[in-house]
Amino acid sequence: MPYRTIIEPFRIHTVQAIDLPSPEEREAALQRAGYNLFGLHADEVIIDLLTDSGTGAMSSEQWAGMMRGDESYAGSRSFFRFESAVKELTGYTEVIPTHQGRAAEKILFSVMVSDGDVVPNNTHFDTTRANVEYQGAEAVDLVVPSEPSEILPFKGNMDIEALRATIERVGVDRVPLVMMTVTNNSGGGQPVSMENLKAVRAVCHEYGIPMFLDACRFAENAWFIKLREEGYADRTPKEIAREMFSLADGCTVSAKKDGLVNMGGFLAMNDHETSLQARNLLILTEGFPTYGGLAGYDLEALAQGLEEVLDENYLRYRIRSTEYLADKITGAGVPIVQPAGGHAVYIDAKAMLPHIPPHQYPAQALAIELYRNGGVRGVEIGTVMFGRPDPAGGPDAPAPMELVRLAIPRRTYTQSHIDYVAEVVIDVANGASEMHGYRIVDQAPWLRHFTAQFEPVIA
Ligand code: F0G
Repeated sequence: MPYRTIIEPFRIHTVQAIDLPSPEEREAALQRAGYNLFGLHADEVIIDLLTDSGTGAMSSEQWAGMMRGDESYAGSRSFFRFESAVKELTGYTEVIPTHQGRAAEKILFSVMVSDGDVVPNNTHFDTTRANVEYQGAEAVDLVVPSEPSEILPFKGNMDIEALRATIERVGVDRVPLVMMTVTNNSGGGQPVSMENLKAVRAVCHEYGIPMFLDACRFAENAWFIKLREEGYADRTPKEIAREMFSLADGCTVSAKKDGLVNMGGFLAMNDHETSLQARNLLILTEGFPTYGGLAGYDLEALAQGLEEVLDENYLRYRIRSTEYLADKITGAGVPIVQPAGGHAVYIDAKAMLPHIPPHQYPAQALAIELYRNGGVRGVEIGTVMFGRPDPAGGPDAPAPMELVRLAIPRRTYTQSHIDYVAEVVIDVANGASEMHGYRIVDQAPWLRHFTAQFEPVIA
């Protein structure tokens, strides 16, 4: 096209009203929720960027698929449509549906991981880490080191030397599999290059270790490879995705991301023996192997979603809309993890609020302020989520980064919604020196970020 504006490649078919709570209503909601944004009701939020998971809009073709859903318990037509879509995309011979991503993780690790094992990943997502640790194993993050402000094409890559050193250190017998998360959500939504996937593959091959992809955002990763890696400019996103899957022995997928559905996931692999064990566990926890906790109509929507997500017009719009938000706020001097991730922009609260120490939760303070000023809900990824409380009552051990993730739901918000978000972020950033920290007054023993209660620290 001769024009530079990248349009949303869809018309809006059904709309859902957004409430516009007043500043007073937002303040009251904050106090009721103990300054924890997970405690807000969705109708108290104007633009909800808490997650891109299960929050996207389905297409009319997906809704049509829902009507075709075949609700037979065993061997439904919808299962076979889903199975052939996954096989066609991934090339894996064994396809196991689950109700969401973490259920696939739980089953895979129950079958493959034992007490005392070590599982390397570029960066584990929090449920992935928790499921590895639940087996008594250690989850090790081996992403290449980089600074948040550094602009590099593939900051999600694994450090190959560190992978080799880890295997040598703990012994190959203790490494049951290597995971690669594409794109690397907890590390800023950054992509992994094909070259790096091949290098990880080579190390795994050398030691005889299976390699699995945590492939929730496989299509966004494929698009970044097309844009940024030599030799891929003329390949289709589907060809690139298939090459990515071909390098691994299997995958876990939360289809709530690049499956373009509101609920669903799957586990796929080539090893028949492992798949039999996985299916036995599936029957115990999720459901019969031809539905795995999903309805026939969910399987139809998912099969269709896997097609649509690889459409070039969709991916061009998707990645551009995230970058558009990043460009607007960095243009006004707001520090972010560079470059923009595929599904989210991560604001660097440590750089923005140097006067708030980690144990007073600068990223939580920023997330609260974005909601207070503009009704925008993001999520803290910092010391509240990953820091450790001091048992002696001293300051928390800080997380490595203090980030606020603004995750963009797929096909849901328009450019003016994003313009509004940018305006709110820039306005809040301009008042950064006035902002103060928070203290936790109540917290759960694990995953405290979901329920912790806060109060402001006013000097
Ligand atoms: N792996 C990654 C990389 C994820 O980002 C997620 C979920 C999961 C696994 C688990 O999938 O939620 O379907 O069980 N991420 C969401 C988020 C929750 O907000 O980033 P699930």
